[in-house]
Amino acid sequence: MISLITTDSVSAEKSLAVVYNELKELSALVENPLEAAYIKACLEQKKDIIVINQYTRWLFFVQKPKDCEVPQKAEKLRNLGHKIFKLCEEYGITELQIENNTPTTLNILDFIEGIVLSAYRFDKYFSQPKPTHLNKIMVFDFSLRKNQLKTLAHLCEAVYMARNWVNEPLSHLTAEVFSQEIEQAGKNFGFKTEVFNKQKIESLKFGGLLAVNQGAKNPPTFTVLEHKPKQAINAKPYVLVGKGVVYDTGGYSLKPADSMDWMKCDMAGAAAVAGVFCALAANKIPVHVIGLIPATENRLDGNAFVPGDVITTYNGTTVEVLNTDAEGRLILADALAYAEKYEPELIIDLATLTGAALRAIGHEGSVYMGTASIYYKKQLEESGFLTHERLIEFPLWDEYQTQLESKVADLKNIGGDTAGAITAGMFLKHFVKSPWLHIDIAGTAYLKAESGYRGIHATGVGVRLLYKFLGRLLEHSTVNVE
Ligand code: BES
Ligand code: ZN
Ligand code: ZN
Repeated sequence: MISLITTDSVSAEKSLAVVYNELKELSALVENPLEAAYIKACLEQKKDIIVINQYTRWLFFVQKPKDCEVPQKAEKLRNLGHKIFKLCEEYGITELQIENNTPTTLNILDFIEGIVLSAYRFDKYFSQPKPTHLNKIMVFDFSLRKNQLKTLAHLCEAVYMARNWVNEPLSHLTAEVFSQEIEQAGKNFGFKTEVFNKQKIESLKFGGLLAVNQGAKNPPTFTVLEHKPKQAINAKPYVLVGKGVVYDTGGYSLKPADSMDWMKCDMAGAAAVAGVFCALAANKIPVHVIGLIPATENRLDGNAFVPGDVITTYNGTTVEVLNTDAEGRLILADALAYAEKYEPELIIDLATLTGAALRAIGHEGSVYMGTASIYYKKQLEESGFLTHERLIEFPLWDEYQTQLESKVADLKNIGGDTAGAITAGMFLKHFVKSPWLHIDIAGTAYLKAESGYRGIHATGVGVRLLYKFLGRLLEHSTVNVE
């Protein structure tokens, strides 16, 4: 990852990006009349980035976005960061100085976040990877506290971790490998982990996870993560649950080839949960959080479960499996019911759960629903706007429940032709008693086309969102934290 450091002087030899607020400040920054004239012309054309080639280095002037609300401003700055990153790559810039000429530090952090997130590459399988040029950013900003840059670097690193896991194919990331990697991340970042193997999963009677795993080549795992700092502000833990289907063929309800070829992404919920723990631990956020990650591949052989099978989940609920491709809800059913043993303040699950969520709102945001209080829903939505990992609430009205009624078991695992994201949510609701939020990231976790600083393929969605959500709880707490 690009290294981020502070500097107390700006060098005239190295390329520099100045984020500026006002026109008059800008004219004071250049002495050369030709450059001044060029800047003036660019400003008349309302260019948001002015590029000056000084032969020995490049100068970029970046206009701070104006006349918009905080979340929009933050997103515009991330996008400007993305543009600057592209320019650095075009011009082969390896080290970039950034000068903050605006009154607030937050702006510069959003800008840098956009640059760092743009620099992500998943190129380990090329025999000759082409590395990116930019590898060091030096920030000149007196109002910036040193740990603010470090905090941001940890968060971006956590997003990179999640993206790497999602991009890793099944050939290299089975449930067991994934669990080992989470254990390793726990050691590196400082959170606790415990991995349940198949035997333990059987003894716990996780019938959903075991049914999905029946046709798999590799055993399932169930990973428990814990971040419990001494000065935690909450008495009851927050529990994060992530869908960890390391590959989804659909099973006997087989997916068509073009829906299947990207299903290595079906553990993006789990990757985001593990990513959030990396950020929480590295930045020592004083909130007690538990993570639960059921993981398996969903594939088929002579042992695989078939449509019509009846299974018994962890809490005793029986389910008629009418579609083996609706597997995510089966493994989440066990994990959500198991979450209750922690007597949680709130349960949040993240899952690439339904094509219906993707069809409903595309790639621009995630669908969420749940039984938590308005307070938590508002907190979550606001965190969504602030991180631009936006969310829209779908209803869990009782009437949808009739779609899940089975003639042979307590529930069936699919609803009718309509409201697929909601009936999936209604299914999950059956397994939770505590306040709960469900986030369906099927549309936002993995992109087949490049999209700004989110990049192409895994986006790491959920990491910045939940990190913000949990971090913001501190602002509302009475405990003072450094
Ligand atoms: N993993 C898929 C959902 C998905 C779709 C994730 C697109 C990412 C992008 C999930 O397991 C699935 O196949 N859901 C089915 C449910 C249906 C059979 C009720 C779906 O959405 O088609
Ligand atoms: Zn599926
Ligand atoms: Zn799936």
